[in-house]
Amino acid sequence: MKRVSFAEFGGPDVLQLVDAEEPHAGPGQVRIAVRAAGVNPVDWRIREGQFRESHPIELPAGVGLDASGVVDEVGEGVEGVEVGDRVFGEGSSTYAEFAVLSAWARMPEGLTFEEAAGYPSVVETALRIIREVGVRSGQTLLVSGASGGVGSAVLQIARDRGITVIGTAGAANQDYLRSLGAVATTYGEGWVERVRQLGHVDAALDLAGSGVIRELVELTGDPQKVISIADLGAPELGVRFSGVAGSVPEALTEAAGLISRGKLHIPVEKSYTLAEAAAAHIDSHAGHTRGRRVVVV
Ligand SMILES: NC(=O)c1ccc[n+]([C@@H]2O[C@H](COP(=O)([O-])OP(=O)(O)OC[C@H]3O[C@@H](n4cnc5c(N)ncnc54)[C@H](OP(=O)(O)O)[C@@H]3O)[C@@H](O)[C@H]2O)c1
Repeated sequence: MKRVSFAEFGGPDVLQLVDAEEPHAGPGQVRIAVRAAGVNPVDWRIREGQFRESHPIELPAGVGLDASGVVDEVGEGVEGVEVGDRVFGEGSSTYAEFAVLSAWARMPEGLTFEEAAGYPSVVETALRIIREVGVRSGQTLLVSGASGGVGSAVLQIARDRGITVIGTAGAANQDYLRSLGAVATTYGEGWVERVRQLGHVDAALDLAGSGVIRELVELTGDPQKVISIADLGAPELGVRFSGVAGSVPEALTEAAGLISRGKLHIPVEKSYTLAEAAAAHIDSHAGHTRGRRVVVV
């Protein structure tokens, strides 16, 4: 089968489309014929070697965690899913014709494979950080970097829970944030004042890692009311960095419910072929994705 792989850590040019052995579903896993793979910033962070000390991997390695596709092997001990089912979930080396998933759920009706591939990691992250920051119905949540994959999920889940969201994004994404129910403002010079004018902030999430932790603490008045997923320096200011994934199956089940009720939709900014994986990484790395990018197999 074909898969995207890299034999050394480095820039996007280390990615190659190669012939590889097909993976097989082990106990507790399913194998899918991949129809689409989500492109997450963590994919190019791993490729660059950012986690080579904390999470060493053997090279050559495949790329990609999120995928959607059709189940074609069911591992030992797995129940409730059959060959032929359309699923979305998380696994490894998903930029490939076949991939093994360790967490999955049936795709909701009406969702395309392309769309479905964009959900798994972002909904797990969004549900986790909303829980960890402890924001409740009737309160106001500030989201810095609100128009990307994680932001798109946070805004819609928060709206469904009766939480008011103030989101920051670039000028081109202000209408997009409003369409997801948020009060929108731009980042950049004067943003703290613009947020203040919009009202009291109970809690804040830093999704962009753009060096705004101090300001988020100032706006909420309490470092415990701020969480970052993108700024490793946050703990120096007393702010929690959230990096340990929660339950992906639970997140997928909750996401499937929201999608079916029409409460959650993550748009696909752009699709790429397997051969265009390097371009997908370059575009993701530029940091201005609206929703999710996907590699279509
Ligand atoms: N720790 C974890 O568990 C975890 C999990 C998932 C993701 N992450 C990390 O979280 C970050 C966000 O992930 P993602 O998938 O949502 O990324 P993404 O889809 O690439 O979105 C990035 C967003 O950041 C916005 N942005 C760019 N510059 C900004 C600035 N100076 N101020 C505010 N917003 C700015 C962009 O908005 P405009 O296009 O409007 O400029 C874009 O919507 C990534 O660094 C990723 O690696 C961490």
